[in-house]
Amino acid sequence: MCGIYGCCQRAKAAKSAIGGLEKLEYRGYDSAGIAFLEGEKIEIIKSVGKVSNLKEKVGERVSNLAIAHTRWATHGKATTLNCHPHTSKNFIIVHNGIIENFKELKSAASEDFYSETDSEVIAKVLEKNFENLTEIKDVNERILNSISKTQNQLVGSWAVILICRKNPSKIYAFKNKSPLIVAKGKGENFVASDINAFEKREKNLLKYYNLNNGNIAEISRENVYFYDEKLNKIGIKEIKKQCEIYQENCNFKHKMLKEINEIPEAIYSTKKYIKKSDFKKLSKKLKNYSKITIVGCGTAYHAGLYGKFILEKYLNKNVSVELASEFRYKTQIKEANELVLAISQSGETADTLAAIEIAKKNGAETAAITNVCSSSITRICDYVLLTHAGAEVAVAATKSYVCQILALYMLASSAAEKRIFRSLENVAHKAILNFSLENLKEFLGIKKFFFIGRLCDSATASEGALKLKEIAYVHSEGYPAGELKHGTLSLVDENSLVIAIITQSEILDKTLNAVHEVRARGAKVLIVSQFDLEGEGKEVLLPRAREEIMPLISVLPLQLFAYHYSDKNGLNPDMPRNLAKSVTVE
Ligand code: F6R
Repeated sequence: MCGIYGCCQRAKAAKSAIGGLEKLEYRGYDSAGIAFLEGEKIEIIKSVGKVSNLKEKVGERVSNLAIAHTRWATHGKATTLNCHPHTSKNFIIVHNGIIENFKELKSAASEDFYSETDSEVIAKVLEKNFENLTEIKDVNERILNSISKTQNQLVGSWAVILICRKNPSKIYAFKNKSPLIVAKGKGENFVASDINAFEKREKNLLKYYNLNNGNIAEISRENVYFYDEKLNKIGIKEIKKQCEIYQENCNFKHKMLKEINEIPEAIYSTKKYIKKSDFKKLSKKLKNYSKITIVGCGTAYHAGLYGKFILEKYLNKNVSVELASEFRYKTQIKEANELVLAISQSGETADTLAAIEIAKKNGAETAAITNVCSSSITRICDYVLLTHAGAEVAVAATKSYVCQILALYMLASSAAEKRIFRSLENVAHKAILNFSLENLKEFLGIKKFFFIGRLCDSATASEGALKLKEIAYVHSEGYPAGELKHGTLSLVDENSLVIAIITQSEILDKTLNAVHEVRARGAKVLIVSQFDLEGEGKEVLLPRAREEIMPLISVLPLQLFAYHYSDKNGLNPDMPRNLAKSVTVE
């Protein structure tokens, strides 16, 4: 994963780079590093832990050029040695991605290696190519040729920003598969993994460009030039920044809590703007596909489970849901007229992108539901539906999940020519306001959780369990309610809390049967439902909406519960250990 940032800017480059890293920290936060030009000298500072540690080490520095990195370790532990930037004699690089052939390249390099990373090899290969290109006299041209040659030797995924000591007034960037955006300003230019990492400027002062695989950017304070892999100068189409509902300064203790509280606004925006994308075209075609397969990972996969429920219910058509990380490796059975629909908040998840590429090769039409308009997935799918949750920075997906559910509901409704339930944002607002931790305090110490539900409530159960595992580090399982008695019930005892989600009247009694079964084994029970089930035990009572869209509401108290569980246990819900927001590695 990792976040990278580079800038050429009068005096404030180091400060800008640290600010950029703070916004990219969701991509990795085990160590961070920076290289910046101070006078004639290039300073490199590294630090284990969060970006705040690096910030403290760097302090106030005057610099016109900087590159920086925040790391999510793939090769080698989070140590200072493994921390980026990585160097060779002349090159200083930061890298996001994985170099799959690093061992092979390492053995052919002429310099010694000091780190366990795959990234260091990029600096060493660049150096070797630079050494071998002495016939090119112009140093800028020689650097560009070294980059081009290096790109041909690398296998895997990379977004790289570099400084060459032979020409330290410029930074260079190149990419394959990992995201890289350039922002062009007046007397200042930037490059980073994410469009939201750049400094805020008055309207239209920055122009944004999304690099394609193989592209190289040459960046100075005055200019940005783009090249293709053969070093032809090229133009890249400007992209627009999505309208933002993210505000930096807020009164919430954590970003996750802030983002949950933004859900009503995110619902409103998604309802309003999703139709501007390929929504109509896709909803018109939906009924005609002979097969629909939904793919996604983690939370997005859970949204896919809801997608299966609502599309089957409204279109009376078989829909399958697959984990993207499995779909990409399984036997592909060709079927005429198939749609593969990917769900991905970031639009950058490596497994989901690979699943789409495979579906395309197999002749399927492809569509994406994503929250990021400039993401890789938007460029490879035939249809793109944009949710408008706004930037989601906390690692745990919350408002983006709700908007994915909404997008699927709207898509199914439109395809089936049904009217949607209108006042969803109000109902969501009510559910958030109604949530009371006071009533749930007794559950904050429990270490064994089972979330159960049937039909679409089983998707919510899986999502509720994932949130708790992810940010509170407690064992929790999400199960279709009927499955417990086929094995898992043996784990249920008086130390367990079973959270039963019951929003569908047709299976209310059936899920209550499962509740009785776990209670008979001594488990504590919490019911989450819009039906008043007083007498069945402790309940979080939800405001009412149309049953088919209740998963959008019932997940809210589960997200809030997980948040408070994590916070009350002294953890940081925004940055759970071992994880990062955008999973761009396989
Ligand atoms: C969990 C979570 C992850 C993501 C998954 C897919 O809270 O955020 O499970 O849902 O990594 O990410 P996207 O949606 O960006 O493809």
